[in-house]
Amino acid sequence: MKRLHVRLADGRLVHGALGFAALWSALPRTAWLGRVASLPPVAWVLELAYRSFLRVRGLWRPATATSAALPGNAAAPGARGSANLPWTKGLIADLRSDHAGEVGAIQIYRGALAVSRDQAVRSFAQHHLATEIDHLRCIERHLPRRQQSRLLPAWRLAGWLTGALPALFGPRVFYATVAAVETFVDRHYAEQIERIDLSLLEAGPDAAGSQLAALRADLQACRDDEVRHRDEARAAGPATNAWVRAWTASVGAGSAAAVSLARRL
Ligand SMILES: [Fe+2]
Ligand SMILES: [Fe+2]
Repeated sequence: MKRLHVRLADGRLVHGALGFAALWSALPRTAWLGRVASLPPVAWVLELAYRSFLRVRGLWRPATATSAALPGNAAAPGARGSANLPWTKGLIADLRSDHAGEVGAIQIYRGALAVSRDQAVRSFAQHHLATEIDHLRCIERHLPRRQQSRLLPAWRLAGWLTGALPALFGPRVFYATVAAVETFVDRHYAEQIERIDLSLLEAGPDAAGSQLAALRADLQACRDDEVRHRDEARAAGPATNAWVRAWTASVGAGSAAAVSLARRL
């Protein structure tokens, strides 16, 4: 992790800027860049830039060795902890976004319950709220507490507003919002389950593999609930006008932005 090294086809080892030049030369689209980068004056300048970069790189990514929890994956530093979970860095990021999402989902229904007097909306929200609380407990069993998002207050507020604002405009806008959120959440869980399936192929039947299989089963159960939530919302009141469609599109885009932020923070 301290310096890039590349083994060439003839067995020679090159490193630093020449290593990058060798990689670029080997790829069709960047072969031209590789040729330019290996010219002596260019290579010297790139090497200088690479060394400067290495000096500041430690500020956000310490050059420590990481052990592989699953073949082909680096374990997240500190991810094992007392729960002894074999999660990779990518899986922790996924779970952090799931946790943030379920925290937000709970607030969506609390927001709706705070402003809506419509009996159908209220019983829909109460019923969904209970499921989202179960989801949050489930994700918390798999995600070490110190790995939770540092932006949880922001996710709570965003969730509450995502439930309360449309509920103020009436049941149909609220149901359309829930349908948009759950459509996004279904895709989010599906992509994550696909990645876990790939890891399971590599992990085999050891302890890490069985923990991963248990996580997969839990995520699939959450996903099944979200699909049910989506279908109930769609059946209750489809989005009909352009304003509602624009709002639900922005809810989908906002959910995607929130996930990518929650994966990091
Ligand atoms: Fe949920
Ligand atoms: Fe849900």
